[in-house]
Amino acid sequence: MDLNERIPNNVNLSEDKRLQRALEKWLPNFLSWWHDMGPEGFQQKDVWLRTAIDVGSEGWAHFDYVKMPEYRWGIFLEPAAPDAKVGFGDNYGAPAYQEVPGEFRNALRRIIVTQGDTEPASVEQQRRLGATCPSLYDLRNLFQVNVEEGRHLWAMVYLLHGYFGRDGRDEADALLERRSGNPDKPRILEAFNQPCDDWLNFFAFTMFTDRDGKYQLSALAESGFEPLARTCRFMLTEEAHHMFVGDTGLSRVVKRTAQLMKQNPNEDVRELGGIPLDIIQKYINFWFSYSLDLFGGEISSNSADFFAAGLKGRFKEQEQYTDHVAAEGSFTMMVVEDGQLASREVPLRNALNEVLRGEYVKDCEKGLARWNKALADEGLNQRLYLPNIRFHRHVGEYAGHYFDIGGNLISQDEFEAKKPEWLPKIEDREYVRSLMKPVTEVGKIANWMAPPATGIKGKPFEFEYVRL
Ligand SMILES: [Fe+2]
Ligand SMILES: [Fe+2]
Repeated sequence: MDLNERIPNNVNLSEDKRLQRALEKWLPNFLSWWHDMGPEGFQQKDVWLRTAIDVGSEGWAHFDYVKMPEYRWGIFLEPAAPDAKVGFGDNYGAPAYQEVPGEFRNALRRIIVTQGDTEPASVEQQRRLGATCPSLYDLRNLFQVNVEEGRHLWAMVYLLHGYFGRDGRDEADALLERRSGNPDKPRILEAFNQPCDDWLNFFAFTMFTDRDGKYQLSALAESGFEPLARTCRFMLTEEAHHMFVGDTGLSRVVKRTAQLMKQNPNEDVRELGGIPLDIIQKYINFWFSYSLDLFGGEISSNSADFFAAGLKGRFKEQEQYTDHVAAEGSFTMMVVEDGQLASREVPLRNALNEVLRGEYVKDCEKGLARWNKALADEGLNQRLYLPNIRFHRHVGEYAGHYFDIGGNLISQDEFEAKKPEWLPKIEDREYVRSLMKPVTEVGKIANWMAPPATGIKGKPFEFEYVRL
């Protein structure tokens, strides 16, 4: 691992002068993007961050105070397997692709650009959250997520520069030019154009939207294009922390809400400055449904093509499945036909987005169970839930139709009438924002959330995670 290079890496970058020069040209553009669009107001502060210094499963991370613009962004791939094979699809068992196969070039570039675009987008969405942090611990976690999303961008840019020549370089430049939520040059996927301007949004985003990232990266970690698989495997180790931030963040909000509910005879936490459960539920509904869209259409010829080509596999393809060709099977799903829900059988390969989405939903349910345990532990009977997967969708079979929270087909008028009960309305967002006052004293926490059970890497919660 070459940590003293301008671009830390474990890909022998200094031996490929052309690639090194190209990436060194991209570096100042990245830094100027980070300066303009990265965390606002904290660029010169010392933040106790982990930095990747090794890709081994043990001790890859080093913890120390770092100013974010000096973070060692780099290119880290998991070691190559000695004789890697294409693990699924029509070329199952053939040697893994070390270069981009010509016939899959466009598809592969699209996959990498789409993944790459999400990384800077989330940094842009979260850039003003520092000003309203609930604690120094949470502030540090926000910045950890942000610098690692920056590194994920590097991971995808390395592939574009290293394997796609000129159009790869152009795509890498474009990744720094699009802007989250900008109508003229928006980010590619809609969840990444939604505002994430309060900490409840942030926790729901890292819980649900970063978790989509886990499933996309897992599917790409199976890829027959080895450099992509090895890149994604390492990204997944970083991604785990992002989901931890969201999952435990929401759990701590729920716990605090439950405590405040018990303090008020009407269980009204507004009087006590807490976030009501119904608002938390609406934020869940919002981010869960937008994150479901990220998996793509339920019936998808792209998913079939990507699988056939050995580019994008299933979740835990090698561990979970024995038939890696999947040419025969079928999958039954609900679709809208003549204004009614009806089941349809689809060739399995065309249903792989839906298969991956199903894995994701199962994972989200575990989070809900943990939050509901926090409610039960406080002696409350109320429970949070996931809306039906058809609710509030903008991509795929259910887009353009209206469903209630239980997944029943309803009219647009019915949907509009119930919408304020299901999705955050302006007053809800304003109320949440009104609670977002910064708490920056060491060991203190905002009133609307509970402190974490433990600190980071053996440090207590009462630790100066960010020096202000
Ligand atoms: Fe990421
Ligand atoms: Fe992430």
